[in-house]
Amino acid sequence: MPLETPKPIHLAHRELRDLLLRTTHQGGRVGETARRVLRLFEPHLEKEERYAMPVLGLLTELARSGPTGAMRDALPLVEEFHAQYENLLAEHRMIAAALEEMLDAAKAEDKPDCADVAMQILNHAYLEESVLYPAAMLAGKEIRRRPL
Ligand SMILES: [Fe+2]
Ligand SMILES: [Fe+2]
Repeated sequence: MPLETPKPIHLAHRELRDLLLRTTHQGGRVGETARRVLRLFEPHLEKEERYAMPVLGLLTELARSGPTGAMRDALPLVEEFHAQYENLLAEHRMIAAALEEMLDAAKAEDKPDCADVAMQILNHAYLEESVLYPAAMLAGKEIRRRPL
């Protein structure tokens, strides 16, 4: 089975993207700023699901057992994730800056639901930087370390 982004992460991405897409239909500065966030967010999600998150699907196996074929197959993704790590973080900074503008606009236009969407995406990025990315990094190091 090809290595895939764990389902809860994929679903969270889809939900955030859908919320953001709905927000782009708002008028005023909220819609405008949401469209800017979406242009940055969609390619970012695509990259994360291609080479950052799939390795997290091996965590259970890594915690329990020795090297497997799936781990060997994951090596190119591990290399790509390591190579792109700083770029992903830089994208987070750009997305966060655009989200801050969306948040300001939502407050100015009195649209608390839209402010909430911005906050949810900011929290998602924080979860990734503090837990998911480091976990993927550790999983990658462990896969590299094991004799395959
Ligand atoms: Fe993400
Ligand atoms: Fe992200």
